Amino acid sequence: MPNKHFNPDGLDYRLFTPGPVQVPDWVLEEMGKPNDTHRSLAYREMHAAIRENMQKILHTQNDILLFANSGTGILEACVRNLLADDETGLFFSCGAFGDRWIQIAELNGKKFEAVKVEWGKGITPELVQEKLAEKKYPVVFITFNETSTGVLNPLDKIGPIVRDSGAILCVDCVSGMGGTLLKVDEWGIDIALASVQKCFGIPPGLAFCSISERALEKAKTVKNRGFYLDFLKIHKKGLQNEHPITPCIPQIRSLKKVSEKIVEITPEKFAEEHFERTELIRNWAKENGFEIFSEEGYHSQTVVTIKNNLNIDVAKFVDELFERGYKIVNGYGSMKGQNFRMAPMGWITLDETKKMLEAASEALKVAK
Ligand SMILES: Cc1ncc(COP(=O)(O)O)c(C=O)c1O
Repeated sequence: MPNKHFNPDGLDYRLFTPGPVQVPDWVLEEMGKPNDTHRSLAYREMHAAIRENMQKILHTQNDILLFANSGTGILEACVRNLLADDETGLFFSCGAFGDRWIQIAELNGKKFEAVKVEWGKGITPELVQEKLAEKKYPVVFITFNETSTGVLNPLDKIGPIVRDSGAILCVDCVSGMGGTLLKVDEWGIDIALASVQKCFGIPPGLAFCSISERALEKAKTVKNRGFYLDFLKIHKKGLQNEHPITPCIPQIRSLKKVSEKIVEITPEKFAEEHFERTELIRNWAKENGFEIFSEEGYHSQTVVTIKNNLNIDVAKFVDELFERGYKIVNGYGSMKGQNFRMAPMGWITLDETKKMLEAASEALKVAK
C-alpha cells in the first residue's frame, strides 16, 4: 500500500488510525481514472453495481442510498427524515459519536430522550428492553461501533428488541461496517449507515446507507425533510441508478471496486480478518501489561482502545511509533493521555499489523 495519497512529503508511514485509513494502490488507481458525467451510462452501471454489492455485504433486500457527504450527513438525514417535530426519538450513546447524534437532534429542533452509558461500557440488550418497555418511541438511534471508546454494541440482540417494539431502528455503522459482519434484515435494522474512509479503505467524501420500506414510508409523513439530504428524493433518483445532485464520482468508482472485492472475498472473511488483526493488537496490549478500555464482551473488531494503566507518556509513544513508520492515535477528546487507539481497518494485512506491533514494542521502551 502506498503512502502517496496522504503523504506528499515522502515520509514513509502506515496509518493504523480509526479513519481515514490507509488507501491501497488499486483504490487510488480507480480514483484517478477519467470521469464521465453523473448522467452517463458508465455512471449508472457503477451506481447499480454498488447497490447490488452492498446488499450482499449487508445481507439485506433493502435498497442502498448513496450520499455526496461524509457519514455525519446521514446521521442528520435520519433525524430530519424520520422524526416529526411532535415526536420524541430515543437515542442511546456510549461515546462521542452517540453524543454527536443527540446534538444533531437538538440542533435540528427535534425532541429526544438520551440514554447514556459510561464510556468504555456497552449498551446492553437489557437496557434497550427496559427503555422501550417504559414508553413507546417512533424511532431509536444507536451506534454499532463506537470509535471513541472501541466498543461494539450487540446489534444482533438489540435489533430484534427494537423491531418488536414497533420503532424504526437507525444504526450508525460508520466504523464497523465491512470490518464487522452485519445482518441488516435478520437483525431488523431500518437504516444502517457508513462512510467509505473506514473499513472500505477509500478517501473520505462518500457515505451510504441501507434503507427499509418502513423507513421510506415513514419519511413520506415527515415535513421539512430539506433538499440535500431528503431520503425520498435520493431514493427516487437512485432507482434509476442516479443521484439528484453531482456526487463524488471518483469515490463511487472506488466503492464499486471495493464492494466487488469484498463480495469476492466474502463479507464473512473480510470481517474475520479485521477480528484477527484487532485480536492480535489486544493480545499485544495485554502481554505488555495494558488493559483494554472497552468492557469485556463489547470489544470492537475494528479499533482497539488501550487503557493507559501503565501511565506511559502517550503523546511520546505515538510520536516514537510515528518515527518508526506507523501512525496511531491518542485517546479521543478528554481521554487524551488516558488511552490510545490502534485501528487496523480496511486493507491493512495481518503481517503489517505484526510489524507495527514490533515497532510499538520498541517505541514503548522509550515512552515508559
Ligand atoms: C462511529 C462514528 N460515527 C460517525 C462518524 C462521523 O463520520 P464522518 O466523519 O464520515 O462524518 C464517525 C467518524 O469517525 C464515527 O467513527
